[in-house]
Amino acid sequence: MNTSKLIDGKAAANHVMTLVKADVQRLKADGIEPALAVILVGQDPASQVYVRNKILRAEEAGIRSLEYPLSADTTQAQLLKLIAELNADDSINGILLQLPLPSHIEETIALQAIAPVKDVDGFHSENVGGLSQGRDVLTPCTPSGCMQLLEDACGDLSGKHAVVIGRSNIVGKPMAALLLKAHCSVTVLHSRSVNAKSLCRQADIVVAAVGRPRMIDASWLKIGAVVIDVGINRIEEDGRSRLVGDVDFESALPQVSAITPVPGGVGPMTIAFLMKNTVTAAVQQAHTQRSFLEAPCLSIS
Ligand code: GUN
Repeated sequence: MNTSKLIDGKAAANHVMTLVKADVQRLKADGIEPALAVILVGQDPASQVYVRNKILRAEEAGIRSLEYPLSADTTQAQLLKLIAELNADDSINGILLQLPLPSHIEETIALQAIAPVKDVDGFHSENVGGLSQGRDVLTPCTPSGCMQLLEDACGDLSGKHAVVIGRSNIVGKPMAALLLKAHCSVTVLHSRSVNAKSLCRQADIVVAAVGRPRMIDASWLKIGAVVIDVGINRIEEDGRSRLVGDVDFESALPQVSAITPVPGGVGPMTIAFLMKNTVTAAVQQAHTQRSFLEAPCLSIS
């Protein structure tokens, strides 16, 4: 395999983590200990794995982490009460509510209950609106990680045609907003798009976030395109279980100039950017509480 085309998300995430760790040390020396609260409602196995990894990465970064595993029958009122307590606790800087939630809890109500300054997922409408206005707000972690990988691979993104496949609130929509902020021409494709393949074939940058295993093959891609594969799909193949992306990697590889593998591409960046957002939230809150002081200086902006 021609590995020179591979975008190494693990190495990029390790680099972000190195900067985050340095910032955490600096903040601690200044009397600020960043802290992240992670809430998981129910026992979805994939969510349990994600939450465990988030807690482990927080520890690695020196960020205090608090885990709130709630039973699947937790009521919406009980969840909102916990979120209100965490909002009011000055020692907590970030609150992450792992999705999906059980169906009896309204996702929008729960996400809107998180104080925007502690919304390290960037899912509150205050932060969503701020991003769409191009303001500097807490931004969803997976799209932020994708942007870093794209900037590392392409340099200046200005004027490039980017196609985002998928329009979820977690990835597709914020990804499109970030690409627009970086001065790309952006097309968002979705299940009702007409001529999706021919539109995608015009793209310099393709971000695939549809959740359909290997949907995007070489026939969707212009020669030399840069491809970011956000999909993490578990499939059974040749009698074993494996993870594949939304892109048919083997088919796409000869066609592209750079591509993220699955696993080892976007995944590690999501968690690294959660840590970065937690540090940013801690700094902003320290600013508000101690507005007479200079802003603590960060390694990453
Ligand atoms: N479930 C899948 N991805 C995410 C994410 O980025 N944040 C949260 N809170 N839940 C998720």
